[in-house]
Amino acid sequence: MKRRFIPLFALTFALAACGKSADGAPDTSSTAQTDPVAVASAQAPESATVAATDPVAHGKTLFARCAACHSVAPGKNGIGPSLHAITGKASASMAGFAYSPAMQSANLTWDDATLSAYLENPQGLIKGNRMAFAGLKNPQDRADLIAYLHTLK
Ligand code: HEC
Repeated sequence: MKRRFIPLFALTFALAACGKSADGAPDTSSTAQTDPVAVASAQAPESATVAATDPVAHGKTLFARCAACHSVAPGKNGIGPSLHAITGKASASMAGFAYSPAMQSANLTWDDATLSAYLENPQGLIKGNRMAFAGLKNPQDRADLIAYLHTLK
């Protein structure tokens, strides 16, 4: 009695599960086929959001505030040192740039946290350094700018 009951129960369950997915699948594809406009308009806002929040693209735009003093070309120093491959580098290590004594003795590594602190308040992190920049106060702006700096390899 017990032996028969268990397989029957399992079979009923399996059939129910089977029936469900067989009914569900054609439903979904017929909606997609008969209403392409609804599908397209459902996807459009999603890709627009991705483009608007691309951190690297936003960071590149923000870099306009740095470009007057910093090149991103390797070895090309201006008022400030080149920022090519700056992420992960030791502070004051760009060849050929005359750093201030304050920057020379800062002894930092330009990881994300250090860059963020410096860009928020250059004088706050390294008192007496010569970068004449008031600071980027918005944390998202700093994160996006740093994401862009990571691409300068
Ligand atoms: C008005 C010119 C100026 C602007 C604008 C400026 N910087 Fe600088 N930056 C400098 C100078 C000069 C130094 C070197 C400071 C020193 O030696 O004391 C420097 C140093 C740095 C360093 C340290 C480099 C190293 O080799 O250790 C980083 C990182 C940096 N700047 C990033 C930025 C970013 C990112 C921006 C834009 C948000 C920016 N700077 C805007 C002039 C500027």
